[in-house]
This record gives sequence, structure tokens and C-alpha cells, in this order.
Amino acid sequence: MAVQTECICADVYPRIDAIIERKGAQTDSLIEILHAIQQEVGYLPQPVQEYVAEKLDVPAGVVESVVTFYTFFTTVPRGRHLVKVCQGTACYVRGGKRVLETVEKHCGCGVGETSEDRRYSVDIVRCLGACGLAPVLTVGDDIYERMKTTKVADVLGKYE
Ligand code: FES
Repeated sequence: MAVQTECICADVYPRIDAIIERKGAQTDSLIEILHAIQQEVGYLPQPVQEYVAEKLDVPAGVVESVVTFYTFFTTVPRGRHLVKVCQGTACYVRGGKRVLETVEKHCGCGVGETSEDRRYSVDIVRCLGACGLAPVLTVGDDIYERMKTTKVADVLGKYE
């Protein structure tokens, strides 16, 4: 079962205020501010987006569209390890889909979700530029080539 979005603690808002003060409460700084908040809080849930919109005096829809446009922003808590399974053509035809299914089963969550113990978040990518070594998956900065479903548990088990 995937982790659910949780309530944001009130103590987060003074930390957000400090970030906005440091970066400058201007629309030009929106992406930079959101980035810093995500690093501080871990993700950008709706209440945080609305708070930032109010502080910067921009419509909440503007903040939401920025958050949804850039894939590095997330509105749900991330796991300690981000597992990305390539689903580009070369990886897909060489078993990438089965690798993804095995990863989802191992982590207990689907694409775009985080495992309940916050150990993993699962995502897909369209090509990692290593098509000759397909199928490929990454865990954080580590790359695993020629993946097989039988190797998934060993690979993911290395990451606490
Ligand atoms: S399609 Fe997977 S690395 Fe290119």
C-alpha cells in the first residue's frame, strides 16, 4: 500500500517564511523558493502551495501549474530511495515492463507512489541513454543494467 499525503505540521510555516525571506518574496523567485521548500519539507502538498501563493501574492493556480509542470517537484512524500525503471522502447521490448511490475510488487507501491515505510518511491523514465544495456533501472544515482526480474530483490535490498 502506498503512503498517503499527510497533514503538514504548523511548524513548517515559519521555516517556509524563512526561505521566502531569504530568496525574496517575488514571483521571479517562485521556482527557486519551491525548490528550497521541497528540500526542507520533502514535498509540496496543496496547503504549502496555497501558503506560498498567498505570500508571493500570486494566484494559487500559478503555483500549482509550476509544481505540476516540473517533474522534480512532488506533491506526495518521497521515499528515501527513488527507483526509476526505464520504459523507453529498447528497455520495454527487452523486459522493462516485467522489471517494473516486479519493482512495484517488491516496493508495494505503483509508479508515482511511495512505499508505506518510506523506503522507496517508484517512477519511470523514457530513456536513460543506455539502450545497449537495456533494460535499465536506477536507484538514486546508481545505475543497474541488463536487469532481470530475478535481480530486483537483491538490488533493492541493498537500500535501507
Ligand atoms: S530505452 Fe532504456 S536506456 Fe534507452
